[in-house]
Amino acid sequence: MSDVRVHNFTISLDGFATGAGQAPDAPFGHAGERLHEWMFATRFWHQMRGGRGGSVGADNAFAAMHGPGIGAEIMGAGKFGPPGWQDDPGYKGAWGANPPFHTPVFVLTHRPRPSVEMEGGTTFHFLDASPAEALSQARAAAGGRDVRLGGGPSVIRDFLTEGLVDHMHVVQVPILLGRGVRLWDGLESLEEAYQIEAVSTPSGVTHLTFTAKNR
Ligand SMILES: NC(=O)c1ccc[n+]([C@@H]2O[C@H](COP(=O)([O-])OP(=O)(O)OC[C@H]3O[C@@H](n4cnc5c(N)ncnc54)[C@H](OP(=O)(O)O)[C@@H]3O)[C@@H](O)[C@H]2O)c1
Repeated sequence: MSDVRVHNFTISLDGFATGAGQAPDAPFGHAGERLHEWMFATRFWHQMRGGRGGSVGADNAFAAMHGPGIGAEIMGAGKFGPPGWQDDPGYKGAWGANPPFHTPVFVLTHRPRPSVEMEGGTTFHFLDASPAEALSQARAAAGGRDVRLGGGPSVIRDFLTEGLVDHMHVVQVPILLGRGVRLWDGLESLEEAYQIEAVSTPSGVTHLTFTAKNR
């Protein structure tokens, strides 16, 4: 069976994956861009934005694992758009006309709407479903390839609780946010289910890889 993978999911030292006060011009709230500066420096990021340059070191090696082998993504309503996007019937997500997914994307929301086809192969489907049901639909759409779990922290936490995540790459950056949405709450003893490795890189971040022991 195909794997469920999390990539480039970034948290602060105190475990927050987003700051407080998410808004259209502040998708990570008061965290601003501080969580992802490590990634903005990589070639992976430059290429994803259609540009050139960027580092090809260890951070890039981790970041570039985001795309290969992925056939669909699942994300939460909080990643798809800022609070209240459900009130705008024409809202099409935070990534412009050609989103960087290029696969079917299943958006978990309690207020589903008709699917939206974007440029570049991304189609957003909106689901009010349990994690297991959403995964079943995403796997069917992925055509044998893996399913990426894109976040945010609430959705990743729910899938971890259900034991549905096979591989997870978490990046811990040396900042303290103090408030926002935390990843780890309620996941006591998660380490028992995973083989965990940690690698710190010259940029100052620590890459943590979680590999499910039952895979
Ligand atoms: N640090 C990172 O690497 C990273 C990565 C991705 C995103 N983010 C950030 O994370 C933040 C969003 O995270 P979040 O934890 O607030 O929200 P989230 O995990 O994206 O989404 C949670 C929401 O999704 C809907 N939902 C979840 N499970 C559902 C289910 N089974 N059925 C129906 N609807 C369901 C609910 O919204 P409704 O009840 O409103 O429908 C729920 O409140 C954003 O700031 C984003 O920028 C960070």
